[in-house]
Amino acid sequence: MTGSPPIHTLAQCLAQAQTLGLARLDAQMLLLHSLARPLHERAWLLAHDTDLLSPTQGTAWQMALQRRLAGEPVAYITGRKEFFGLTLAIDPRVLDPRPDTETLVDWALAVLPAPCQRPDSLRILDLGTGSGAIALALQHARPDAQLWAVDASEAALAVARTNAAQLQLPVRFWASDWFAQVDGVFDLIVSNPPYIADADPHLAALRHEPLQALSSGADGLDDLRRIVAAALAHLSPSGWLLLEHGFDQAQAVRALLQQAGFIQVQSHADLAGHARCSGGQKPPK
Ligand SMILES: C[S@@+](CC[C@H](N)C(=O)[O-])C[C@H]1O[C@@H](n2cnc3c(N)ncnc32)[C@H](O)[C@@H]1O
Repeated sequence: MTGSPPIHTLAQCLAQAQTLGLARLDAQMLLLHSLARPLHERAWLLAHDTDLLSPTQGTAWQMALQRRLAGEPVAYITGRKEFFGLTLAIDPRVLDPRPDTETLVDWALAVLPAPCQRPDSLRILDLGTGSGAIALALQHARPDAQLWAVDASEAALAVARTNAAQLQLPVRFWASDWFAQVDGVFDLIVSNPPYIADADPHLAALRHEPLQALSSGADGLDDLRRIVAAALAHLSPSGWLLLEHGFDQAQAVRALLQQAGFIQVQSHADLAGHARCSGGQKPPK
């Protein structure tokens, strides 16, 4: 910020961020982080907009601002992200969990039978767990279920295990190339796999996130094809497979599910109204 006037108040920090093109919510989160305050305290910022930053806070704010302007996700800068009501530790070893993925969690919870309908415990598998976001959200909402989660990245699994320990949720994590190291059958399999085409120009804007979490072959469907092809063998009768995918892939993913023999094949829309999740049910016996 060479040449910028010194920043004195919280209101001036937010105004500076807006002038530089930052979204207001991002600026508020970064400012709270720079002040070492909880990220949900946005109302506190409003009530203290004439407070002065200390020199240390001012330096932290300028560093956070520069990192965001260079394209780093807010979650990597703050080290935290709210997902489905849980606070997760997030860093560049894992994808920054998106609010859209909460659509997949909502759908998963809706297809699960109520605890009173199932005397034995439900078995759920999360493929490509990253930070553990989906598995941990499901385990938190359904403490009666048994959750397993895999990822090909040991680095991502270390983050997921830390989150599980922090949240005291008993999800079991292990390394696997999709189903390669998975035994047994599940009542529900969920996955938010990589689904961006290798040559998609949007990948450049996501350069701070791990490439193995994002790209998946020429049409972005390589991993979805592998998961759909192998899933029926790992589902119990009437079990569900629910998948997140790109906004323009719903038709292709439904076709894959139908060709594989799934029934009840359907898509669900995300918060913006785009069909971003598709899934189907294994036929009953
Ligand atoms: C789009 S990220 C999703 C992360 C997390 N589930 C979420 O929703 O925030 C995809 C994840 O799949 C993992 N992955 C990629 N290829 C894989 C493979 N062949 N087997 C298992 N996991 C894989 C990546 O390491 C990454 O963590």
